[in-house]
Amino acid sequence: MRKPIIAGNWKMFKTFEEAIQFVDAVQDKLPSNEKVDAVVCAPALYLPTLVQVASESELAIGAQTMHYENEGAFTGEISPAQLASVEVDYVILGHSERREYYNETDDAINKKVAAALAHSIVPIICCGETLEEREAGTTEQKVAGQIKAALAGFEAQQVEHMVIAYEPIWAIGTGKTATADDANQVCGAIRAVIEELYDAETANAVRIQYGGSVKPDNIQELLAKEHIDGALVGGASLQPESYLTLLEAA
Ligand code: G3P
Repeated sequence: MRKPIIAGNWKMFKTFEEAIQFVDAVQDKLPSNEKVDAVVCAPALYLPTLVQVASESELAIGAQTMHYENEGAFTGEISPAQLASVEVDYVILGHSERREYYNETDDAINKKVAAALAHSIVPIICCGETLEEREAGTTEQKVAGQIKAALAGFEAQQVEHMVIAYEPIWAIGTGKTATADDANQVCGAIRAVIEELYDAETANAVRIQYGGSVKPDNIQELLAKEHIDGALVGGASLQPESYLTLLEAA
């Protein structure tokens, strides 16, 4: 049985004070982490403080992106070594917003996955299709290509600890959710790609989240599906009450 993982992606929302208030509000109310992994991926500026505020609880703190080099002349970037030095547990890699607005390529994502593993940071690797690709029937092809590129060069033992997030781009922040069956089908296709690249054991170990307009009222149906092991959540992760409801559902 794969343990569900619910990760909030706050994107560029919340002031410093609001971020601390959120962690204070949820950290004593989390379900046991024997049942579900609870993660919040916060703006980089807040990470060291949130790690400290959450240090006595089971809430894990993640970053939303990072560079693949450990140091260098990369103005504005944050390195895997820097994230590790403030004890960040997770990092989202290859989010469609990073791919679209910051030209994050499959090759860079592959390097970032390696860098995250080298620092014992769990990568949450995002993939997903545009509306045009869905309508053209090329969803599984697109997602398989992204996953193969992200995983190139890794051993099965490394892959089984990774998290993959399937986020159809047309469902992000739009209120349109993929149906639970459609989401499950693509998550199943991702698992089949991992089996093809490695073996059934590895494919069964990897946790695959769905992301895209996940809300308290649709999470149960999504999580009930065979291949959906959690959610990567934007808007509905911003309020403590709805974040806790998502965790309870898992
Ligand atoms: O990474 C989470 C995400 O892109 C989905 O956002 O607001 O549709 O839940 P949202």
